[in-house]
Formats: sequence, structure tokens, C-alpha cells
Amino acid sequence: MEGKYVFERNCIVCHGPRGDGTGEMSAQLQPKPRSFREGMFKFRTTPAGTLPTEADLARTIRGGLNGIDMGMFTNLPDDDVRAVIEYIKSFSRRWRKAENYAPPMKLPQPPKWLDDKPQRNTRATTGKIVHWIAQNHIGISRLSGFKSDAEIAATADRESEESVCSLRHDLDLID
Ligand code: HEC
Repeated sequence: MEGKYVFERNCIVCHGPRGDGTGEMSAQLQPKPRSFREGMFKFRTTPAGTLPTEADLARTIRGGLNGIDMGMFTNLPDDDVRAVIEYIKSFSRRWRKAENYAPPMKLPQPPKWLDDKPQRNTRATTGKIVHWIAQNHIGISRLSGFKSDAEIAATADRESEESVCSLRHDLDLID
């Protein structure tokens, strides 16, 4: 299916016909739907100020955003997801400039205690998870940090991209 059509069917009510985030439903929503016109994205595995990867966008679209009114489009065919991503890119010129692209950052594996709910809750209230994310610039800018880099490094031994999703997931539960 053509990207524009996928967008009109599934996204326009929130993101608006011009991709500026002012769709019919946007008045009722908090946070507001993203405007795609600035080409700035929050949910990325890439460094601050750079564009997200295709995989980042696909993950957001497919998985939705926890605690946020973004419908889950788990049943959109892959081709439609790809097409709608291309369409979103047409809203901003930033996608045309090579300097706005960057490879995903290597992220540490979530620490073991993240799987243990009681421990996780204790640590979350002291801000450890929160800072770990902020430190990796995943774009959860509304939260501030508490722990030093050394302490964060000590809790994280391996590197993986998946940790972004699981941490973001955990963070949203906490928030
Ligand atoms: C019910 C309203 C709603 C619908 C429908 C919706 N979105 Fe969203 N979308 C949002 C909101 C709200 C946010 C902002 C979340 C935030 O700021 O934390 C968002 C954020 C996003 C982001 C994240 C941008 C970033 O900063 O990383 C992408 C990408 C996105 N939407 C794509 C889509 C696509 C593609 C569709 C259709 C297949 C769609 N959305 C449908 C409400 C919606």
C-alpha cells in the first residue's frame, strides 16, 4: 500500500494531514502527537540531534508508546510500515542531509535486577533506571538523573540494542 494512504488511514487523526501533529484527535491528547515537520525524534537508538533508524521508527509504530495514546499497529504489514516511514520522511528536509544520520549507539545490557520487580521498583524510585537511560541519550528528556557515570557503568556489562526497548518499557511503567 502507498505510504500516503497508510498514513491517511492510520495516522492522520493524530499526526494531521500536514504531519504537524495537529490531527482531529490531538486536542484531547497529552503528550501531543509528534510533528514530523521538524524532523526531530525522541525514540531513537542514535545520538541526540540525529535522525532515528528505520528500525527505531518501525519499533515505535509497531509497538506503540507505552502510556501514550498511540494506537498499536502490530498488524500492519511490513510493507505498509516501510511505506509509511518513507512518507513520514517526506515531511522534513532533515532526512535529505547526510550529516543528520548516525549509526545506533552501543548500549549496555540492562542490569540483572531489572527483571526482579521488587528490586526494580526500589531502584526506580531512587532514579537509577532513569539516569541510565538519560546517560545513553535515549531521549527521555523529561527525566533527570541521579547516579554517576561510574556507577552506571558498573551495573552494565554487555552491549545490546534490545536494551533500549526493554528499558524504555520499564521506564514507562515507572513514570
Ligand atoms: C491516537 C493518536 C495517534 C495515532 C493514531 C498515531 N500516533 Fe504516532 N504519536 C502519537 C503521540 C501522542 C506521539 C508522541 C509521543 C511522545 O511525545 O512521547 C506519537 C509519536 C509518534 C512517533 C515517535 C516520534 C519520536 O519522537 O520518536 C512516530 C514515529 C509516530 N508517532 C508515527 C506514527 C505513525 C506512522 C502512525 C500511523 C501508523 C501513528 N503514529 C499513529 C499519537 C498517535
